[in-house]
Amino acid sequence: MSYAHLLVSDQDAVRTITVHRPDKLNALNHATIGELHHAFAAARADAAVRVLVLTGAGPKAFVAGADISEFASATPVQARAFSEAGQQMMRSVETLGKPVIARINGFALGGGMELAMCCHLRIAAESAKLGTPEINLGILPGFGATQRLTRLCGRAAALELCLLGAPITAQRALELGIVNRVVPAAELDAEVMKVAAQLARSAPHALRAILDAVILGGDMALDQGLSYETHLFAVTASTADMREGTAAFLEKRPAQFRGT
Ligand code: COA
Repeated sequence: MSYAHLLVSDQDAVRTITVHRPDKLNALNHATIGELHHAFAAARADAAVRVLVLTGAGPKAFVAGADISEFASATPVQARAFSEAGQQMMRSVETLGKPVIARINGFALGGGMELAMCCHLRIAAESAKLGTPEINLGILPGFGATQRLTRLCGRAAALELCLLGAPITAQRALELGIVNRVVPAAELDAEVMKVAAQLARSAPHALRAILDAVILGGDMALDQGLSYETHLFAVTASTADMREGTAAFLEKRPAQFRGT
């Protein structure tokens, strides 16, 4: 499958999806949102893909937001459909069941920051700028920032970012807990691929259980979340990878996880 606005490439078990509209700083128009939805569904269904990297084309931007030219004249009904399409695509990334790393190479603004926030790990170049500038357009974020920012870094920071709309540096995003790591731009690829390679060697069912426990369980009441964790713990005990991981530890050798 080829896409008009995405590039997809595989390196062993790591699939990289690149939003490719560099002349528009990779802004998310409706077509790109649809393509991302399709590309992530394909990755979910492909057992050979164990880890995903999501990034933007060119040196300047991860994604500079939803495509302003497309929604500038939207009716309320069209705006609702646009918001729902973006939210559904991003929720499908967040609940993919395989780890997704956001490689934040430049501007991650508005819908771009929202796209990064639905990924499971965020690694940013020192030069990246993140923010939710929708207030400057007379709107609020519509692809989940009011909810995910609050969950990631708390109400005070979420309100400051959304109310004031000013971009922050990658270093500030690190301090707020929005990104996991910040590296010099020249080291971004190496750092992302190092993390991706480690995840690709890990037991896929255990990775999925962790993602489900944190993402789905994290929104449950504590007793429900703990019970869900116990259930997932029992499920991982049914895998050959659990026998392999524990045997490898006891035999003092590296584990070879096969996803079974
Ligand atoms: N939607 C549509 N087009 C966008 C865009 C967006 N979110 N962000 C950038 N672009 C386009 C610009 O219109 C421009 O297109 P043009 O060359 O056809 O005029 C091109 O991308 C390059 O952007 P430009 O603004 O010239 O680059 P810059 O270096 O001067 O500024 C930004 C970079 C990111 C600060 C600036 O583009 C910007 O503020 N973008 C909008 C950010 C935003 O509000 N995002 C939230 C949207 S909900």
